[in-house]
Amino acid sequence: MDAFFASPEPHLCRNLRDACLRRTPTIVQSSPGLDPIVDFARSCVRGLYADPRTLESRFLYDAQGSALFEEITRQPEYYLTRTEAAILAAHAAEIRELTGPTRILELGSGSSLKTDHLLKAWLERGGPTRYYPVDVSSAALSAACAGIRSRFPAVEMVGIQCQYREVFPLLAQLSPVLVAFLGSSIGNFAPPEMLAFVRTLAAALRPGDFFLLGVDLVKERSILEAAYNDQAGVTARFTRNLFVRMNRELDAGIDLDAIEHAAWYRQDQELVEISARFTREQSFRLTPPGRVITMGQGDLVRTEISRKFRMERVIPELEGCGFAAERVFTDSQRWFALLLLRRRPLYSPRRAGKRPL
Ligand code: TRP
Repeated sequence: MDAFFASPEPHLCRNLRDACLRRTPTIVQSSPGLDPIVDFARSCVRGLYADPRTLESRFLYDAQGSALFEEITRQPEYYLTRTEAAILAAHAAEIRELTGPTRILELGSGSSLKTDHLLKAWLERGGPTRYYPVDVSSAALSAACAGIRSRFPAVEMVGIQCQYREVFPLLAQLSPVLVAFLGSSIGNFAPPEMLAFVRTLAAALRPGDFFLLGVDLVKERSILEAAYNDQAGVTARFTRNLFVRMNRELDAGIDLDAIEHAAWYRQDQELVEISARFTREQSFRLTPPGRVITMGQGDLVRTEISRKFRMERVIPELEGCGFAAERVFTDSQRWFALLLLRRRPLYSPRRAGKRPL
């Protein structure tokens, strides 16, 4: 992902405002600026000609990919989801105390299952509970909205199907708001992109608004590598699904049997690198734009990175982007952290040396 400086989208804003006024659970979509197939094809060509070869991870989440990701979160090796859910369960009421009755907007909401803890805490304190799940996958979003509707009929909800950056122009009109970004999805950005993302988010929020951020912490290699190489092979299917999608949508004709999943921890950069490896040479063409791509035996295509964080480093970084850390919640093993950040008032001097833990 490159620029996060989205121009306001009048179409999306209007739809969202209308949906909020009607108070009917609705899904709004961003205005289709670019044909989704052309967008996918262009991105694949750009990525497969790049060095190193990469594919944009937002394309992992089609209907099948989103379902596979849900299955990943249930694997015994994938500790992230259940650890974060336990932290949320333990502290949701306290978070609600600290934020007051804000709206909740969740970026990359997926199944929205962990959000139950927040919604429960909001509902318990009374008053309207307004929830805006945002996801690129319309299938995941519809399923999540249907689930929330049946579990929490009192929640007023508008699902927004778009990329993260497209929703930034809406945030000011949702204030007071808590933006939740869970699952350590922030670790899927490279460092400069992460900073651009956090700065843009800070600029889009009103001072006093909240940012609830889940981050996975640095830990032993074996635990990290197991989480991205589950025994049941679900993560491998998730990686391969990107090529299944290329075959289906771009008529690529890739031999899927010649693709294997590879994920390892790079200690020097403190990140897990997730790739597809071609086990045989093969050429294929993507339509449109119809260019031939040749992959050699052993060639890797990186599909994702997942950075692991150190609290003492990430908190000052986030504070440098316009937020103050209000509270840090973690589990007893310190495997995962949930940070409650608050948009600092504009132009106020940075509070130095004060790190609530
Ligand atoms: N946000 C998740 C993470 O970094 C995404 C993820 C989990 C993922 N497993 C994956 C992405 C496997 C690609 C491949 O943990």
